[in-house]
Amino acid sequence: MNKENKKQISLTLEEKLKLLTGKDGWRTYGANGKLKEVFMLDGPNGLRMMTDDGQTKKATAMPNISIIANSWSKEAARLAGETIADDCIEKGADILLAPGVNMKRTPLCGRNFEYFSEDPYLAGTLAKEYIDGVQSKGIGTSLKHFCANNREYDRFSVSSEIEERALREIYLPAFEIALKANPWMVMCSYNRINGVYASENKYLLEDVLRGEFGFNDVIVSDWWAVHSQFRRVKAGVDIEMPFTDKSYDDLKTAYDKGLITDEEIDVCVERILKLIEKVENADKVKKVEKTTEERHQAAVQIAKESIVLLKNEDNVLPLNAEKSGRILISGTFANDPPMGGGGSALAETDFKQERLENLISEKLGDSAVVDITANTQFTGDGCNNYIGNAIEAAYSHDTVIVCVGTGKWIESEGKDRTDIKLPFVQEEAILKIAKVNPNVIVVVYAGGAIDMSAWIDKVKGVVFVGFAGEGVNEALSSILCGEVSPSGKLSETFPLSLDDTFVKNNVGDGFVDLYNDGLFIGYRYYDHENKEVLFPFGHGLSYAKFDYSNLKIEKTGDIEYEISYTVKNIGNISAKEVSQVYVKDECSFVVRPEKELKGYSKDFIKPGEEKQIKIKLCKRAFAYYSTILKDWHVENGIFEILVGSSSRDIKLKGKIEINLPEEMQFTR
Ligand code: GLC
Repeated sequence: MNKENKKQISLTLEEKLKLLTGKDGWRTYGANGKLKEVFMLDGPNGLRMMTDDGQTKKATAMPNISIIANSWSKEAARLAGETIADDCIEKGADILLAPGVNMKRTPLCGRNFEYFSEDPYLAGTLAKEYIDGVQSKGIGTSLKHFCANNREYDRFSVSSEIEERALREIYLPAFEIALKANPWMVMCSYNRINGVYASENKYLLEDVLRGEFGFNDVIVSDWWAVHSQFRRVKAGVDIEMPFTDKSYDDLKTAYDKGLITDEEIDVCVERILKLIEKVENADKVKKVEKTTEERHQAAVQIAKESIVLLKNEDNVLPLNAEKSGRILISGTFANDPPMGGGGSALAETDFKQERLENLISEKLGDSAVVDITANTQFTGDGCNNYIGNAIEAAYSHDTVIVCVGTGKWIESEGKDRTDIKLPFVQEEAILKIAKVNPNVIVVVYAGGAIDMSAWIDKVKGVVFVGFAGEGVNEALSSILCGEVSPSGKLSETFPLSLDDTFVKNNVGDGFVDLYNDGLFIGYRYYDHENKEVLFPFGHGLSYAKFDYSNLKIEKTGDIEYEISYTVKNIGNISAKEVSQVYVKDECSFVVRPEKELKGYSKDFIKPGEEKQIKIKLCKRAFAYYSTILKDWHVENGIFEILVGSSSRDIKLKGKIEINLPEEMQFTR
């Protein structure tokens, strides 16, 4: 709709109010044909389009967001967005209700599979690329769930009780960074924040999101997240979804009572018309670029970037016919890998998985022997009938790959996990197989952290595949057989056990979830408590070996620095390495995390080659949020720059002294 059309459109009051309450479950109101109906669909892990009889239309099942985050690759995140956008264009969706950037405060949260990380910088920077990828194709996005929706239990009413610094430094920055990609919408969350529903939290929506972060487009409610029509309009929620007669009636009543004004309605209408205009303009340019097969290959490529090699004792990986001998694969996930967790983020594909044993056989060549234990069920109750088969077969093989994990029945929207161990029967299978075979490799298909303490010392290899989408077996076999070195790194800490986490049980204490862990979530928490972990944030092994050297820190402005360092591949296979830059405030007058991620780089390096990597650090890399100044503040003093291969494998350290002029410092 161009400027002229806009002037010509005159909407009746009823049409305006209906515009604010949507048309149905997925579309905006068309005002009797005057306006285009904007069609919005889930989800972050692939297009989820329901048919009238409640089935899900098939689409490309992508590596889940949590697994894309393990790639630490901005290119992979962007490619994921572009690929899902092709499915959207093909099926006529205008906006993808994604990505979610809620922080992983507890490994129990049921939706962690569709969130990026425990670190706001990693989550925000990858979400920005994902949004850019989707929107570069003329499909809009809806950044979600704003904000502090960090568990599923009681999500429709729980109040996330968070002090200001934790809100500003942990729970908001991923949104702030992702907003740089100009998502067409932001979705408010279900929960309360400090006692006020997100859908009517004027401070967070108007003052912070719009006023401070500069977001002036449509805020859409999460589905059924509105509790008061007039309070949500006053807070700036433009569209309530889904449409219900009651929503319209309540909105009309609020208007008739004078609780909302024509001006307030017109502000929402204007933003919705602007959104419709964006969609109409996009309609002129968007076109499907990747075939279904090319989209599948994109899913494979992203999975290859995201699979994490957690343990590789005695170089049990990569497999090869001579070293690995007769190989046995067991576990139903091998040929029925979960595509994701349950709920609105589950994409369904009709891609038929290549059998893992066949893929491995092909890659290892004729001399390889790769068997699979028939019907090894490590999931349902019937599994005990099959563990025996697996143990018996394990005797007569040299290497055993045990495929275990969770899936949509365990990890899902609408509920939290009650534990982070594998199902008992799966642990049992690993332990019994490991008793009879010295070369066990466990492949884990899950959306979040798994407590491996019961068996980690009994096996030689652990590969965290996650929910790696429809291309998982092609990607996994390629890594297991050494065609490509693993380069994924954990985007969330794997604790030794649930007891080691701050939020031991996630049932919560009634209506209020006290965030008294404050700033200290994820690696920030384990550092602060000086706790051992199973695998740290940023951990991931490679088939190559990397040497870090030559750290240089150059001051390029008042509070701008360029960090440079060299990474050399001293191994004998080309591989990608994710190097990470953390900042530590050595002497602070406020409590601060031990270190915080402020930069990273993923680089392909051939054997013997070295790469010089440059990372720019600006004010926010050093600042904390001052609740006195109501702004970000950098204290003068010593800061340490730490460069590592993970948050707990620091290779290089350097110090800088920040000495800003008096007027930029607090008066004591
Ligand atoms: C769901 C989810 C949200 C999703 C929406 C539409 O309840 O919270 O992420 O986009 O409703 O399905």
